[in-house]
Amino acid sequence: MRKNIVAGNWKMNNDLSASKKLAKQVAKLVRKNKVKGTKVIIAPTSVNLERIAKLTRKSKVKVAAQNMHFAENGAYTGEISAQMLKSIDVKTVILGHSERREYFGEDDALLAKKVDAALANKIEVIFCFGEVLADRKAGNEEAVVGSQIKNALFHLEASAFKNIVLAYEPVWAIGTGETATPEQAQDMHAFIRKTLVDKYGAEVADNVSILYGGSVKPANAKEIFSKPDVDGGLIGGAALSADDFLAIVQAF
Ligand code: PGA
Repeated sequence: MRKNIVAGNWKMNNDLSASKKLAKQVAKLVRKNKVKGTKVIIAPTSVNLERIAKLTRKSKVKVAAQNMHFAENGAYTGEISAQMLKSIDVKTVILGHSERREYFGEDDALLAKKVDAALANKIEVIFCFGEVLADRKAGNEEAVVGSQIKNALFHLEASAFKNIVLAYEPVWAIGTGETATPEQAQDMHAFIRKTLVDKYGAEVADNVSILYGGSVKPANAKEIFSKPDVDGGLIGGAALSADDFLAIVQAF
């Protein structure tokens, strides 16, 4: 059975004290509201990961990194490795976010290597992809999404998908206030699942959680999450408020 997951991507927001405060608030709200059946993840900036991982260790909130390098170690100034994440008890990483693709030139070939490195270190991957507005206007969204998935993931064995979560994030909906309609999200998620069925079979595809990301808010989460192939959300802006984030967690 695939899991329901709500993950908050804090991006380059929150210094140490703000990160601790928000993480504590989220952990407290999750406990107070007895959240069950939904996996809750927060992704602080890498410099605060160790502190936040320690702070949330006894809670139901899990911590993810926002990025990592593919190499084990070496001369890659400014980068962090999967092994380093593992050493501070971080067991999930977001890879392929559209901001990494756009501002840091990450392409499918590089992401395939990062996915391999994460999985080799037993780190779960939240793999992000999605089309830009021009692709959607041209009716190419399925072709783009299909190739992003194939290029970065289809060299993997079926068993690898136990440790992969997919996050469909139409780039035109990220941070713009514009959300895909629940129907647009469902259509694309169904296409993504079918793409997995064709390659790996129904059992693998049925067990992969597919998250939607792009301006998810308390006001629209319920309708989006009610769609059969939407298994949760990757939340940016709304994850910076503990109350809004919890409301989204509770939208299931
Ligand atoms: P947003 O960001 O919720 O602010 O649109 C989503 C994301 O980038 O993961």
